[in-house]
Amino acid sequence: MSAPALRRLLAYCRPGFEGECAQELAALDARLSGAGYARAARGSGYVEFVSDDAPALAGRWRELVFARQLLAVLGDARDLPPKDRLAVLLPIVEAQDPLHGRRRWCDAWVESPDSDAARELAPLCRGLEAALVAALKQRKLIDRDSRWRLHLCMTATDAAYVAVADRATTAPWPGGIPRLKFPRSAPSRSTLKLEEALLVLLDEGERERWLKPGMRAVDLGASPGGWTWQLVARSLHVTAVDNGPMDAALLASGLVDHLRADGFRYRPPRAVDWLVCDMVEQPRRVAGLMAQWLAEGLCRHAIFNLKLPMKKRHDEVRLCLDLVADALAAKGRRVELRAKQLYHDREEVTVYARVPG
Ligand SMILES: C[S@@+](CC[C@H](N)C(=O)[O-])C[C@H]1O[C@@H](n2cnc3c(N)ncnc32)[C@H](O)[C@@H]1O
Repeated sequence: MSAPALRRLLAYCRPGFEGECAQELAALDARLSGAGYARAARGSGYVEFVSDDAPALAGRWRELVFARQLLAVLGDARDLPPKDRLAVLLPIVEAQDPLHGRRRWCDAWVESPDSDAARELAPLCRGLEAALVAALKQRKLIDRDSRWRLHLCMTATDAAYVAVADRATTAPWPGGIPRLKFPRSAPSRSTLKLEEALLVLLDEGERERWLKPGMRAVDLGASPGGWTWQLVARSLHVTAVDNGPMDAALLASGLVDHLRADGFRYRPPRAVDWLVCDMVEQPRRVAGLMAQWLAEGLCRHAIFNLKLPMKKRHDEVRLCLDLVADALAAKGRRVELRAKQLYHDREEVTVYARVPG
């Protein structure tokens, strides 16, 4: 039997990481009443979390590493009639909820989780979305200024969740996945990882303030240059550290110095604005290096990847983040940490760190 609406959350994640996503929802819930529990099937690409604290947890997508999106569930339905699914789903959408009455929606998205099985539902989702938006317009339930966005998550051809997102605190991309186009002149597909990190981990104002032309960056493990490419595209000067070769066109930009050196030993002659690091290494070793740079004031901002072990992946991420925070605390400094498993991340997560002030 389903738990009552507004006690349930729906999180999207990378298939195979449902356990980690459930674990961190439980950890967040533990700081409130702690009585919540998760329902998750491995490989499904989503987690349902049931808790009295669901309304308080719903706005905390940004704090979660493994959740690409976090929605508040209004209801769900099974055995949907193939000829008229909306006949069952619309009454759930239109039901009054005790807190918000009859909501109006800035938009309505019909999505499916990122699993192989659910991805086949994409054509169905597209058709259903067009019909849903038309039905909402007819009922005058679309209001572009509304803070609420409606989500239908199809988990099978005959099963769906109906859920709501607050635009201000949830991912602004269908499925929680920003669709990025590979830049043709970028030397590696890894470039999309840094582009997505800048898009997901920083907001628009932060990108403008913190990534200015003329700033200086170091890229550890830079070859062939996908991450450096993103920084050069924003007119930053980059010291690219890697024994491997760098893309010739990037070097010709005049904005890149290539150093064939060990990224764990290299230190800049003077402090830089940004440190980025994509070296394939043990996550604790990378976190320790980032902590040193930040604690010694060698960089102001850092973005780095933590390649995850096979087991205890949630614990390893927490341990690495704590390691950075503790190193700064030992120097009497605070560090702001934001971490996500991005769409372009596989067995890894991406972290943004900043020492304020
Ligand atoms: C995943 S690749 C980086 C891809 C790069 N970010 C891009 O976008 O093209 C990892 C790189 O780390 C480099 N690397 C690994 N250990 C290193 C070390 N100790 N010092 C410098 N580079 C290292 C490897 O040579 C490799 O080129």
